[in-house]
Amino acid sequence: MNILVVGGGGREHVICWKLSQEKNVDKIYCAPGNAGIKEVAECVDIKDVDIKGIKDFAVKNKIDLVVVGPEAPLVLGLTDELEAEGIKVFGPDKSCSRLEGSKSFSKHFMEKYDIPTAKYSEYTDIEKAKNEIDEFGYPVVIKADGLAAGKGVIIAKDKSEALEALDMIMGDKKFGDAGNMVVIEEFLEGIETSILAFVDNDTIIPMVSAKDHKKIFENETGPNTGGMGTFSPSPIYDERLEKVVREEVLDRTLEGFKKEGLKYKGILFVGLMITEDGEKVLEYNCRFGDPETQSVLMRLETDLSEIMLAAVDNRLKDMEIKYKEDGACCVILASKGYPESSHKGDVITGLDKMDDGVVVFHSGTAFDDNGEVVTNGGRVLGVTSLGATSEEAAKKVYKNIEKIHFDGMQYRKDIGVKYNAQ
Ligand SMILES: Nc1ncnc2c1ncn2[C@@H]1O[C@H](COP(=O)(O)OP(=O)(O)OP(=O)(O)O)[C@@H](O)[C@H]1O
Ligand SMILES: [Mg+2]
Repeated sequence: MNILVVGGGGREHVICWKLSQEKNVDKIYCAPGNAGIKEVAECVDIKDVDIKGIKDFAVKNKIDLVVVGPEAPLVLGLTDELEAEGIKVFGPDKSCSRLEGSKSFSKHFMEKYDIPTAKYSEYTDIEKAKNEIDEFGYPVVIKADGLAAGKGVIIAKDKSEALEALDMIMGDKKFGDAGNMVVIEEFLEGIETSILAFVDNDTIIPMVSAKDHKKIFENETGPNTGGMGTFSPSPIYDERLEKVVREEVLDRTLEGFKKEGLKYKGILFVGLMITEDGEKVLEYNCRFGDPETQSVLMRLETDLSEIMLAAVDNRLKDMEIKYKEDGACCVILASKGYPESSHKGDVITGLDKMDDGVVVFHSGTAFDDNGEVVTNGGRVLGVTSLGATSEEAAKKVYKNIEKIHFDGMQYRKDIGVKYNAQ
């Protein structure tokens, strides 16, 4: 089977890495890929949001399955375009991708199908939003309705911050049309976690759990990032939580899909807040999370290509999906200035010195003119390993990180090491 993976970050590197070990996979292309993905797939210079370019490539190269990594092409309708050409796609269509592409759509969906979530209102009129903002109390959560590359959610601690956020999103249109509408939500206090699931029209199968760490510094301090590391399994995700999520979130979500005629196929990522008042859904994403995927797919034993084909053909209920008993850990190495900015072009050394079993997934890397691997984004590498437990995995990861170097390299030293519930 010939597969085209769309995207060029750590998530897509893991997907390509896993697929490259599978017996039914003959050829993997990745658009656009990165310096690490090049080791396991043929990178083609097409941007992930170049819908026509991807479609033309897939048709010309007789691609059997397209796997869409990031949300932007899904929300733009890449799946619909490819399916119209008779090409199989793992990733929800445009209509289903509204669950991530519109906060308003997902809140309506949750409300209608009794899926627990924060109380909210939506606004297209900035003055009305400003007039009613006090009703939510402070802090208050303000979300641009559309995609904003993970930056469209603002937690305002008081009224002046809230008004500033509304001006920025709805007035100055910092996120473009994504800010034509906002969702304003009550602030939920609790412990945040998430779960990934494989989905087709009849079945939702959750994967093993992973704990992610979004803050830049140890002990959950400093500003939020795209994610500084993960480990799996997550001790938060115990049997009780698993049951609650199955009954109150996943089953109701599937029922909603059926009633709304949403033919969802792909990955569903459910962001959760565990509050004193029960579990609440913070958000849906319609793709793998990065860097959760690194830890979770390292543990996946079953062929990913088989699971993806089963989902596309609506056979997920017959799939037995197996994971290794081992734990996993992934630590992100970020570039100078992250998360406020990032630094490109710093030469990375030591990548050839990794112990067996330690895999370095590339997030933001490129080759410079001398053919050396250099930094090319905020999050640069995800050093990942299995171990008898996630703590053992973390030890291997940290031992190997010592051999990697680039100017301004920064990473957290507490991922999977000391369990921290926050
Ligand atoms: N109602 C809420 N109460 C408290 N915190 C919240 C609430 N909603 C969102 N957050 C915080 O803001 C973060 C981002 O919110 P959300 O997941 O909705 O945005 P997003 O931009 O879609 O994120 P992602 O990039 O992870 O998809 C959450 O991970 C959570 O930490
Ligand atoms: Mg999201």
